[in-house]
Amino acid sequence: MEIINGKTVASVLKGKMAEEVAIRKTNGLKVPHLSAILVGHNGASETYVANKIKACKEVGFFSSTFRYPDSITEEDLLNVINQINENDDIDGFIVQLPLPKLIAENKVINAIKPSKDVDGFHPENTGRMIKNLPCYIAATPYGILKLIEYYKIETKGKHCVVVGRSNIVGSPISILMSRDNYPGNCTVTLCHSKTQNLSEYTSKADILIVALGKPEFVNGDMVKEGAVVIDVGLTRIEDKTKKSGFVLKGDVMFDEVAPKCSFITPVPGGVGPMTIVALLENTLKAARREVYNS
Ligand code: GUN
Repeated sequence: MEIINGKTVASVLKGKMAEEVAIRKTNGLKVPHLSAILVGHNGASETYVANKIKACKEVGFFSSTFRYPDSITEEDLLNVINQINENDDIDGFIVQLPLPKLIAENKVINAIKPSKDVDGFHPENTGRMIKNLPCYIAATPYGILKLIEYYKIETKGKHCVVVGRSNIVGSPISILMSRDNYPGNCTVTLCHSKTQNLSEYTSKADILIVALGKPEFVNGDMVKEGAVVIDVGLTRIEDKTKKSGFVLKGDVMFDEVAPKCSFITPVPGGVGPMTIVALLENTLKAARREVYNS
């Protein structure tokens, strides 16, 4: 059994990106620039954006944050997005979610220029992903692919069971694992909240990807001997003995499941550290004009 070390992989990949940025500078090429739009004062969003900006500094990218109050109108936000779309200095940008209730999330996502949509949330990028065309893949599924690749985990012909069908993780990773690619070429089963006899499916998985948001939901009986288990769950559980006041729990009972696995991601330190790296990778692709050439 091998514990997948997301922190190590993240730091190796960041190191490679930092090298590429240094070479770009030497060659007079553009330094990648990521922008984040942050609306309101949601604590988790503030932390996520701060971490993304910090990661940009680590690899030598430029970054900028556009902050607006909760009271910004949808029209004004769409105008800001149009301005960033047209700003040649900014290679890629994200609109941190969630947005205030009065703003239609879909309208905002659809307004982002697909070539700058480094979150991979625009339908153009989702469509390209399904067709196996060049695209930006959303951070969490892209981070999972990078982990599988780094550990050279065989995927061809394997049965991959995904639990959870969210737009951000379950749905895209199910498509990615079935594409004619590496990682991919799996036979994929997508399970969700209405699936009956869930453990009948999970216990047949060679690769089990759990993105449910239910702490410690998957136990040892639900997993096959030798399986690869990717735990995307990340729930804060109150714990007064901790300085932060909480502990992070995944969707998998790690102690019970790990002994049965060939590979398993821990929480924290598995998929989590990879999501920001994936966003940086997309920003670098944007600066290289690799996905869209304009
Ligand atoms: N909110 C939670 N996760 C994400 C993410 O990956 N991107 C954006 N834009 N907002 C988020």
